[in-house]
Amino acid sequence: EFSWHGNEFWCINTRGNSPGSMSYMLKKDGKWIAFSGDVMIDGAKMHTWFDTEWDYGFASGIYALFNSVSLIESFRPSLMLPSHGDVIRNPLEQLKEYQRKIRELERYYVRGYEQSTFGYDSQDTVSIPTDVPHLWQVMPHIYKCKGPDLWANFAIILADSGHALVVDCGLGKELLDKYIDCMRAKFGLKQIDAVIITHYHGDHCLDAPYLREKYGAEIWSLDKVAEKIQFPERFDYPASVNTYGAGIDSIKFDRTFSDGEKFRWEGYDFTVDWLPGQTEFGLCLNAVIDGKLVAFTGDNIFGSTTDPKQNGHEAVVARNSGILEEGYIYAGEYLKKLQPDIIIAGHSNVLDKPKHLIDRFLDSAIALRNAFQALSDEKDYRYMFDPYWVKAEPYRVSVKAGESVDVDIKIRNFLNTAQYHYIEFHCPDGISTRPDVIDGFVKPSSVKTIKLSIYAGAEAIKGVNMIAFDISLDGKRYGELFDMIVNVI
Ligand SMILES: [Fe+2]
Repeated sequence: EFSWHGNEFWCINTRGNSPGSMSYMLKKDGKWIAFSGDVMIDGAKMHTWFDTEWDYGFASGIYALFNSVSLIESFRPSLMLPSHGDVIRNPLEQLKEYQRKIRELERYYVRGYEQSTFGYDSQDTVSIPTDVPHLWQVMPHIYKCKGPDLWANFAIILADSGHALVVDCGLGKELLDKYIDCMRAKFGLKQIDAVIITHYHGDHCLDAPYLREKYGAEIWSLDKVAEKIQFPERFDYPASVNTYGAGIDSIKFDRTFSDGEKFRWEGYDFTVDWLPGQTEFGLCLNAVIDGKLVAFTGDNIFGSTTDPKQNGHEAVVARNSGILEEGYIYAGEYLKKLQPDIIIAGHSNVLDKPKHLIDRFLDSAIALRNAFQALSDEKDYRYMFDPYWVKAEPYRVSVKAGESVDVDIKIRNFLNTAQYHYIEFHCPDGISTRPDVIDGFVKPSSVKTIKLSIYAGAEAIKGVNMIAFDISLDGKRYGELFDMIVNVI
């Protein structure tokens, strides 16, 4: 607490919209006035989602925000003065409404399966053990791992000829060698032709280079997945291959597919489809194998196919590039149309007869989008959810002092009307951009790309520098929401 010119203030921790956030309560004539920062904006709305996303889908930011709201409510403030937007003149009503909306969000936001509680019960109820410890047979031509605390990424399709295709490889070299040795000796495995990577996260591809070097397997994926693995420094996404401390900064691909591309292998007809969900950058590999339509879906849908309480969705992570229309909603609609008989998912999960789970998965993804929209002050919730609606590609560049480098600035309009943007580039000393401001219109529902030249002068500080994008849309200033990295060498 402190007092200023006879005014009594209490300082309270109201974290939520970011882990560090304070509110200042002023006691005036026996009533409290809240200077509440970004806890809530007028209309019982959330300031930004991506600042409230503290973790990987475990909702700690949501719980902290909710509890901060409850704390402010306990003061029974007569007035709230948030950092953005209008003064809130009926705070008690709005705080109650806000709590209700946050609870609704939490209901659909947290994972829709029993990940760290009873998850083993539904991890895989189909496979049978083989002669090889921890290698289980899903169907006559497909094997995968299963074992105590074994949530690794590895599935293998073994054709009658002895040729094999691996789907994801993040098993650890020791177990991988053991599986391959045993499969050679006991199941007639002769050659692994390729490993197909379902999405860009490192835990699904870290052993792929080893599989190529030691066993001659090619590495394949969807084009937009491969790019994130081969050039992770060009993008601002988490869980890239270079962040696992495994000494792998990049993986080259031998073959990339476009969305919907088909290939024939050992008498099977495979399709590679774009499958966003947990991340925009994922694929679904599907084929009829042993009389069933099998879909390999990565980390999107897990859990029990028979428990009506589960909706199966994996973590919701905006920083994976996971807007719901190009994430879980798309995945739900896609899988509903595909109608797989069985899903072989990431982390050793097998989902047999998933039809009803897919229905619940899609319904909950739509409910989640609606919960975000109810909390958003924007016409489209994606402006407060997505941290990438203005971005630089590449996200990180290196430039020598005295030289310049070009990047693309991509501005996305989520609305079905044209939108006027005004973006200032705020640079540290010695760095400048040409132009220093970009403004104009972005057509409805589109992305506009503008070239930006970044110049590092002789006085630029060597090492990592950051350029902030100060953004206004249709006359509303959002401020320095996004950024890019310039490494001066
Ligand atoms: Fe994963």
